[in-house]
Amino acid sequence: VISLEYGAVFASPICISFGVTNDLKDKRVNIQALINDKVSQALEAAGAPAGSPAAVRQSAKVQFGDYQANGVMGVAKKLGTNPREFAQKVIEQLDLDGIAEKVEIAGPGFINIFLSKTWLAEQAENALKDARLGVAKEEQKTIVVDYSAPNVAKEMHVGHLRSTIIGDAVVRTLEHLGHKVIRANHLGDWGTQFGMLIANLERHEAQGGDISMDLSDIEGFYRESKKLYDEDEEFAKTARNYVVRLQSGDEYCKSKWQTLVKITLEQNQHNYDRLNVSLTDKDVMGESMYNDMLPGIVADLKEKGLAVEDDGAQVVFLDEYKNKDGEPMGVIIQKRDGGFLYTTTDIACAKYRYEQLGADRVLYFIDSRQHQHLMQAWTIVRKAGYVPEEVSLEHHAFGMMLGKDGRPFKTRAGGTVRLADLLDEAEERASKLIEEKNPELDAAEKANIANTVAMAAVKYADLSKHRTTDYIFDWDNMLAFEGNTAPYMQYAYTRVASIFKRAGVELTDLTHPVVINEEKEQVLLSKLLQFEEAVQTVAREGHPHVMCSYLFELAGNFSSFYEACPILNAEEDVKQSRLKLALLTAKTIKQGLDLLGIETLERM
Ligand code: ARG
Repeated sequence: VISLEYGAVFASPICISFGVTNDLKDKRVNIQALINDKVSQALEAAGAPAGSPAAVRQSAKVQFGDYQANGVMGVAKKLGTNPREFAQKVIEQLDLDGIAEKVEIAGPGFINIFLSKTWLAEQAENALKDARLGVAKEEQKTIVVDYSAPNVAKEMHVGHLRSTIIGDAVVRTLEHLGHKVIRANHLGDWGTQFGMLIANLERHEAQGGDISMDLSDIEGFYRESKKLYDEDEEFAKTARNYVVRLQSGDEYCKSKWQTLVKITLEQNQHNYDRLNVSLTDKDVMGESMYNDMLPGIVADLKEKGLAVEDDGAQVVFLDEYKNKDGEPMGVIIQKRDGGFLYTTTDIACAKYRYEQLGADRVLYFIDSRQHQHLMQAWTIVRKAGYVPEEVSLEHHAFGMMLGKDGRPFKTRAGGTVRLADLLDEAEERASKLIEEKNPELDAAEKANIANTVAMAAVKYADLSKHRTTDYIFDWDNMLAFEGNTAPYMQYAYTRVASIFKRAGVELTDLTHPVVINEEKEQVLLSKLLQFEEAVQTVAREGHPHVMCSYLFELAGNFSSFYEACPILNAEEDVKQSRLKLALLTAKTIKQGLDLLGIETLERM
């Protein structure tokens, strides 16, 4: 499957298998999948063709119940029957005994399902007892995730920030579901620019400078190298010579190249650590790793008749893509001078991930502007049979990061914003904020809170937006304590957790069962039990904003519940039941944020 639409990866949701009916009592289940399954069975029993979609979704409004099945109308239309009458037949066949307390037909043939309060309460008890909060592991797959991927001797910039943050949240989620995840940091560590970089490194060394000091401003070093290359013919000659030597494996050039890679990695690691991103040196699989494969790939593509010589270069013509004259587009895989291209590397890289890493799925978190590039590489990969169709190659594209003015995010002077500077500014701003809110805390705690809130704010602002749209970077929004922001969510967690502290109890003290009497309790609990659906959606679609929206709604449901249902002053059995709901809320928010790579605080 090459997903042609960004992120739209699977035609239908992955089916989750679980034991239905018999062992419902001791197993948390994915409610949506369970009901979907039951409605599908009923549809068939009512005469629908096998495999007709039940289309069960969470209901948009309380009055439509907890879940709604929308599949009936489509099936009735196909069968040529009246949808409401057909819905009636389906309901007669529908066995939701013990799970639902009311099922009704609405509108043109929707089926509204109201879950049983007793059943919901049982699910809550099960989730509370389980460290995974009832989120089942999925059948294990090997999943390679390509993310972050900055370039050597270039500062990481805000564009890499999006890939890093979004990719890391998806990686954490996939691992939580039990998958074998291979992080692949596709470092840009190859190309002709290394000639000038090596030549300049040599120059600095000859001057006896402190290399790691000289390269602390790596972007400056890059600019200096470029300037020398453009203005000094002698330097340019050396640089060109070094490119050739590096490509032929010359030891001297290789060791200089390694120095540049090492220094860049150290600088990046500092950013990753600050951001609590789970990447380390071990995850680096740079472009250079595929060098040895490239000649063989070109030869193989020629042999398969896919690549042909055109004006001295090796080119694959693709009917799928037309150039401006309406002719098949030519994708160059080897230049006239023998050099390989970014596309050639990505062909090799996909092949390697399938053959050597055993990938069942490969996810790429890359800027949407590289979509065409990936599609061309993968079209060639599929045609050559390097990766079978059942292994998905997925481009999870994202838009640009824009400034408040809606233009590309730049420094005041118009330069690219360095990630490290951005994180510094986030910390400064958060410190001021915490100072205003909590002047009485001691300095160390204030610093810790400010740091945690700052990194969370930067990450959450990005994670909470639909990734395919351009994203406006706005300090005031991301640090606000209201709205779908990190400070709001972190504070929501701290508040719920503090209710518990004030009650002075542990889970083991809560001997009374969960009992649902109020609508706000039911709405909160229903939402709590949808946590697994959110986790699975993020894993399937690579859209962490689904988790952010879920947590934000959950926090909102908790606030409404807390307003309507007093906890600490209630009768003992009611109090305990509500404390359990509060505890499950706190745990769910904490685990949800954790899957996003966002830390919580016990006090803020
Ligand atoms: N280094 C590239 C850049 O900065 C991103 C690489 C993404 N991964 C890939 N397999 N092409 O734009």
